[in-house]
Amino acid sequence: MKHTDIKEIISSDKYIGQSVTVCGWVRTSRNSKSVAFIELNDGTSLKNIQIVVDKGEQEYKEPRVGMSLKVTGKIVEGRNNTKEINALPADIQILGDCPTDYPLQKKGHTLEFMRSIPHLRSRSNTFNAVWRVRSVLAAALHEYFQKNNYVYINTPLITGSDCEGAGEMFQVTTIGYDKEYKNEEEYYANDFFGRKAGLSVSGQLEGEMAATAMGKIYTFGPSFRAENSNTPKHLAEFWHIEPEVAFAELDDVIEIAEDMLKYVIGKLLETCPDEINFFDAHFEKGLKARLEELISHEFGRVTYTEAIKLLQESGENFVYPVEWGCDLQTEHERYISEKVFKKAVFVTDYPKEIKSFYMKQNPDGKTVAAVDLLVPGVGEIIGGSEREADYDKLIAAMNERNMNLDLYSDYLDLRKYGSVPHGGFGLGFERLIMYTTGMANIRDVILFPRTVGSIR
Ligand code: 4AD
Repeated sequence: MKHTDIKEIISSDKYIGQSVTVCGWVRTSRNSKSVAFIELNDGTSLKNIQIVVDKGEQEYKEPRVGMSLKVTGKIVEGRNNTKEINALPADIQILGDCPTDYPLQKKGHTLEFMRSIPHLRSRSNTFNAVWRVRSVLAAALHEYFQKNNYVYINTPLITGSDCEGAGEMFQVTTIGYDKEYKNEEEYYANDFFGRKAGLSVSGQLEGEMAATAMGKIYTFGPSFRAENSNTPKHLAEFWHIEPEVAFAELDDVIEIAEDMLKYVIGKLLETCPDEINFFDAHFEKGLKARLEELISHEFGRVTYTEAIKLLQESGENFVYPVEWGCDLQTEHERYISEKVFKKAVFVTDYPKEIKSFYMKQNPDGKTVAAVDLLVPGVGEIIGGSEREADYDKLIAAMNERNMNLDLYSDYLDLRKYGSVPHGGFGLGFERLIMYTTGMANIRDVILFPRTVGSIR
């Protein structure tokens, strides 16, 4: 259908005086004696275009909110440097009718209500803006890695090994368990892959295999977690960006994470000023200034041990008690980034017991070369580490966790054949979008959220 994007028309003077065709959905419609006004939006911009209908003596049927229209008319300059379309009733073609039970008849619905209409919520300004931020950030991430010699790889979604070892894998099976199998082993042997399989929680293990050949790689795809965490920042299916770099130690990993975030947020501020202003006005006052500040200042850095001390000396009444060895909860993460540092902060060198088997063991024998990036408002958005490159130490760490080494034989081979210091991190894409939009619930930054007890 030949037509021009509304975004193109409103952002350029070159269409003034020309006849154009636009298509879109009616946001509002007003009718008076001789003229009528329609606000049309086609999703290419947060801004609508106003159609000024010169009714004259012609018959005019006022379009209803939500109807889809095709309109041909002349572009003229409106008030405050805006563009309008002058049209006659005959220039308006209804593509799709919309009855009066259209749920987005009025503005001001709650986000909870909008979640109940995921198929329609994209037609609101809020979700229009979130999806555009998502798209621009995805493109900026690819751009960052491509410019810096990383190879984009696609790791499998169905896997036989649990990367994080936290037992949070969704099982992939074509047969149900049946009493006729003597034991679990026999059951899995009869299943599709001939062994237990699940949806991948991370592409890291395969990423390491590619990085120790290509030098620098990144993945950008979905990861799945069967965590029973019904919180505003957990999804069962989230998008995961995982760079992995050979010849790199923990400090290099941290440097890449900071550089990458500053690049993509800078791109976002440059490309989406309307969307950022919108979120600043409606969701988080001061968002724009916070993002500008982030890209122009160094991130903070603290060890886990120092962070525990800060929390213990804070005088705060945390729900979860703080002692060396505990996992940092969101309330702790937010205290560190919001109250102590008041900015993004890397926390490093966590106790080995609370981190994954693959992390490089520090000389103190107690901690590993892990890093989490905590940001105000959200908490952890990045988790990464230098990897254990020593074959024997890695085996020992896996044995301590009673892991089945046979399932990881390919991974272990990497430490036998030309092992190198290497590391990487995982960035939760939805958490980055929460941080850059001020949206408080992860369900509102992904088109169709999958969370415990909810799928649509
Ligand atoms: O800290 P995580 O579990 O680290 C890994 O998966 C490593 N294998 C990454 C690596 O080193 N290559 O997850 C990384 C990030 C978290 O910081 C968080 O932003 C996001 O993934 N994440 C989730 N996002 C939404 N919902 C969930 N259930 C998430 N679990 C992790």
